[in-house]
Amino acid sequence: MKKTNVSAIVGVQYGDEGKGRIVDYFAQDADIVIRYQGGDNAGHTVINDKGKFALHILPSGIFNPETMNIVGAGTVVNFNTMHEELENIRTKSGMEIDNVFIDSRAHLIMPFHCDLDGAEESKRDSSQKIGTTKRGIGPCYTDKAARSGIRAGDLKDEEFLEKRLTMLLSKKNRELEYYGLKTYTVEELMALCDKWKKEFGDHIIDTVPVVREAVESGKKILLEGQLGIMRDNDWGIYPYTTSSNPTVGGAANGSAIPAWAIQKVIGVAKAYSTSVGGGPYMTELFDETAEKLREIGGEYGATTGRPRRCGWFDAVAADYACYMNGVTDLALTKMDVLDGFEKIKVCTGYMIDGEYFSHLPETALQERAKPIYEEFDGWMEDTTHCKTWDDLPEKAKSYVKALEKLINTKITYISVGPEREQLIIR
Ligand code: GDP
Ligand code: IMO
Ligand code: MG
Repeated sequence: MKKTNVSAIVGVQYGDEGKGRIVDYFAQDADIVIRYQGGDNAGHTVINDKGKFALHILPSGIFNPETMNIVGAGTVVNFNTMHEELENIRTKSGMEIDNVFIDSRAHLIMPFHCDLDGAEESKRDSSQKIGTTKRGIGPCYTDKAARSGIRAGDLKDEEFLEKRLTMLLSKKNRELEYYGLKTYTVEELMALCDKWKKEFGDHIIDTVPVVREAVESGKKILLEGQLGIMRDNDWGIYPYTTSSNPTVGGAANGSAIPAWAIQKVIGVAKAYSTSVGGGPYMTELFDETAEKLREIGGEYGATTGRPRRCGWFDAVAADYACYMNGVTDLALTKMDVLDGFEKIKVCTGYMIDGEYFSHLPETALQERAKPIYEEFDGWMEDTTHCKTWDDLPEKAKSYVKALEKLINTKITYISVGPEREQLIIR
């Protein structure tokens, strides 16, 4: 097999694992970074010499001016929020960002997608609520699957765009009326699309030739996922999922990369776990330990500001995640958050209706699962200044080695703080 230099960076929990900081680290010498799915529901925090940023739709490679950043065909794009995000970064960092390109096949999030996201969620009964980010992600992917969506490239062909918008709006306005919401005219959306074309038209391209050349000539490419496998629409806790595939299959599909070319898969997981939104979460804690994890870990959503649900590391789910993604190297983040815990637990199995499970079952069974824990001694030392594996306390090393065994995957990277250089490479 020909050697390539393509790495996928995937979340192996429920999202917010620290993907942004890992992509930012590896993007320092990357040729291309591609966001392959999702939209501005992402909140990827990056802290580097330019400041602290929460990226929503922009790829986390934007801080290296030499890197080409692609918002891939598998994503859904809201150009209003992309505009705001670019403005914020310009103001904050003084950087002129001109290295972002959007594949012409990416679908566009229209204002009514956001309206419908909120309305659909409000109609779900309390046990069925997904807790979406209300960014219009689900409704936009719905139109994509129904073959009625509007794509970025459509902005460049006014006649075609008008035809597509007329067809789509005839359906969407009926839905908006059903929910008692404001409807839209073709004219007002054409005007919005014209504004988007003027601002982004030159950056909407067919990315296949450039990505193909990069793959074939061995250039360094990073594929940046949004969310984690537990929210994958096929392999996560359906229906409490997002409407795309954060897993590595989605990486190949959403970024113009043949599957064989992804020869390195970096799974990102916290040393404990968090989840934002509805659905089962087997290792969730409701006591003061959850509070302590939330406060020390700063566990509040980067996009919605919601307090994150917190709990222990679920090794059964992580083992499933590493298998499903073909993870070659795991990056364990937020080790330092556990510095002050005397005892640390890890889930190694579940009891469901009196039966023992050593593997991750389907959503309905997860709702009834009771975790079985193995307990570890905490290291009770500050790890934030550790720069090498040998600098880590012995008990921290034992914890990492135990996780490696449980998830059958090498832990190559250990993050001991949010800043770029607080990463130990083994
Ligand atoms: P993403 O969505 O996967 O990119 O993750 P988020 O940015 O939503 O959440 C991760 C949070 O943890 C951010 O606030 C990061 O700055 C922070 N973070 C990442 N790695 C570390 C780490 O090793 N230690 C600490 N204390 N914080 C970290
Ligand atoms: P990053 O990229 C955490 C959750 C929502 C909801 C479900 C579906 O920072 O990991 P959606 O708006 O996608 O239709 O919501 O997914 N969710 C996230 N949780 N981090 C995110 O992004 C998320 N994006 C969506 O809470 O349960
Ligand atoms: Mg996040």
